[in-house]
Amino acid sequence: MKKVLFIMAFALSLTQIFAQTASKSSKSDAKEDRNFRVPLIGETAPSFTAETTNGTLNFPSDFGRKWKILFSHPQDFTPVCSTEIIELARLQGELDKLGVKIAILSTDPVETHLQWKKSMESLDLNSQGAVKIKFPLIGDDDLKVAKLYGMIHPESNTTKSVRGVFIIDPNNIIQVIYFYPANVGRNTDEILRTVAALETSAEQSTATSHVFAPVNWNPGKDLLVSIPPKAQASKSSNDVPEGYYSPVWYMWFKKSSQ
Ligand code: BEZ
Repeated sequence: MKKVLFIMAFALSLTQIFAQTASKSSKSDAKEDRNFRVPLIGETAPSFTAETTNGTLNFPSDFGRKWKILFSHPQDFTPVCSTEIIELARLQGELDKLGVKIAILSTDPVETHLQWKKSMESLDLNSQGAVKIKFPLIGDDDLKVAKLYGMIHPESNTTKSVRGVFIIDPNNIIQVIYFYPANVGRNTDEILRTVAALETSAEQSTATSHVFAPVNWNPGKDLLVSIPPKAQASKSSNDVPEGYYSPVWYMWFKKSSQ
């Protein structure tokens, strides 16, 4: 009996050792897979050269001194991704008005992108008419770009990028990052609103007074300023100049000129 118990205990310890080793090795494999990071707000957008449906793209340099959006998808021929791309193509006029260039990434090859693009361009989604997709779809079947931008989130999927949006300024500095999971499509109104807010803030800020977009801001609405010019000159927060209002000492609105 003693001998049987000893053999059982020995077998149990061996099983535990094997389980621990297997877990350590799968963790170290995963660790190798995670040897990349998301570039952060304020950092220079990582550069890459890739083939796209519009030819070779050197990102971000080929887009010059424009605002830029890098928009990623998990996979070609998937329904949510297709609705997002068709909507962005429909909004091409709005993107042009904002002077923003967009590049789409999906972790499939360009040949597949070309077939997918043709299929999307043939659709009349929500009876809004078929649209032409003018922006490039980047081939990334080797995950080079997805990893460079930290779009692979291994606990979600090791080969498919999450839905990422990077908004990059004319100096190629990352200004905004959104990440969404595969099962939620992004809000294109919010993307356009964010670009408009960034552009307005950049245009209207000065060295001494920064302009900010308050909650739910949209073009034409009043903006916030760090401190209005006249009050700054007089160093008195009670002195509210024409065109500004201040509900409380730490909140200064600049009235919209509209
Ligand atoms: C989609 O875009 O529909 C999708 C992509 C990846 C996983 C699930 C859905």
